[in-house]
Amino acid sequence: MPTRENLMPLETFSIAPDCLRALDMLPGVLDEIIPLSRSHRLGLGRNIRSLWEDLTSEREHRASEYLSAPAYYSAYLRYFFPWNLLRLSSFLPTLALRLDDEATIVDLGSGPLTLPLALYLSRPELRTKKLTFFCTDRTEKILKVGLMVFESLCLRSGGALPPWTMILRRHQFGIPLAEKADLLTAANVFNEFFWKSKVPLGMRASLTARQLLGYLKDSGSVLLVEPGDPRSGSFISAMRAGLSSFGAMPLSPCPHANSCPMPGIFRSLEGPGSDAGLGGEASMRSKPKSPQAVVMPKHRDKYPWCHFTIGVDTAPDWLKALSAEAGLAKEKLVFSFLLSAIPDPHAALAKPKEGCATLRVLSEGFPLPGGLAGRYSCSQKGYALLRYFPMRSSFSSGDLLPLPQAKAAQGKEERDEKSGAILLSY
Ligand SMILES: C[S@@+](CC[C@H](N)C(=O)[O-])C[C@H]1O[C@@H](n2cnc3c(N)ncnc32)[C@H](O)[C@@H]1O
Repeated sequence: MPTRENLMPLETFSIAPDCLRALDMLPGVLDEIIPLSRSHRLGLGRNIRSLWEDLTSEREHRASEYLSAPAYYSAYLRYFFPWNLLRLSSFLPTLALRLDDEATIVDLGSGPLTLPLALYLSRPELRTKKLTFFCTDRTEKILKVGLMVFESLCLRSGGALPPWTMILRRHQFGIPLAEKADLLTAANVFNEFFWKSKVPLGMRASLTARQLLGYLKDSGSVLLVEPGDPRSGSFISAMRAGLSSFGAMPLSPCPHANSCPMPGIFRSLEGPGSDAGLGGEASMRSKPKSPQAVVMPKHRDKYPWCHFTIGVDTAPDWLKALSAEAGLAKEKLVFSFLLSAIPDPHAALAKPKEGCATLRVLSEGFPLPGGLAGRYSCSQKGYALLRYFPMRSSFSSGDLLPLPQAKAAQGKEERDEKSGAILLSY
């Protein structure tokens, strides 16, 4: 057992240095590819603000091809794209991705190819692999501009293009694709249409999980990334349950495959038309048993939702200045994500790792009595409150730690009275 003083997280979220270097070059690249006229430059802050209002509102009337308008794709590339790259590049390095030579990645709602570029910038080992990316979006224009930006940044930062085949596809989510993916990704996409349906959340998650798995090879993985707001956290928890019900088990950020103790408003998949009634390829896969119940936060209508928070200190000054100009200065970045995978039958034969129960730190730190600090966390037993002396240890949202022993009295773990969380200490 590590002592408090020598505890090193098994994983930690931190913005990839190559991403920061690329963002220093981004304004120059964009000025070359999509130069702004004087009047567009003057209106840039206003356009960013207006696109932000459109994207963050729950409005139903957003034009479906909003990213084909020059004012909007300029605003997207100069503001949303770099912030999304920073978010993605902070946790992509920690993911167990199964991407060998000849692997196929399908990126749904790829926009300006944000996720492929984030993979390039934060996973240097992939730069020499022969990968095929299907970058799909309902708006073709943003894919085309994105490819020019991708190539220009690869050339400027690495001196050459990676041996990746980049295929751009105009495509609407739900329509089948002939190619099957080893890795299916969708970043900041589902919040644009998932909630428009009035079908109950659990049932919608089952249907969406089935659609996603239809794009995958038999042993593929699905990576979903969403902004870290409560609704997105509920979506991620519901999708985790939906994907698990078809045998795609959560790999990250979850430190276990039991029920999710931070599900926001999601309660269960059950309801008319849930996974029980679904036919097709996904339902043919062997059904895992229901996930084990865990300690939940104290009862309330909206439970805490799974999301991570990272600082923006290292973000480029130009991006901070532009954000402030748009009235959208940022103090932190939040996001929710889920990597789920259909187990590889060959890997399943390998011996499982032993003794690796872990704890994922979620929340920001807050002071507790007695000079202690606390952070809400997730463990195989459920919702947990990690307590520690900030003078001796420091933890961050996203850290994966060896699971400390809970203090128990008469066989029951001690709980925090206010939150209902299991009390754990380092
Ligand atoms: C907020 S952008 C995200 C782009 C990129 N993935 C990123 O993280 O920066 C959402 C993208 O999803 C696309 N999109 C929205 N709904 C879609 C759908 N039903 N089918 C395909 N693409 C969709 C939009 O055109 C847009 O490019």
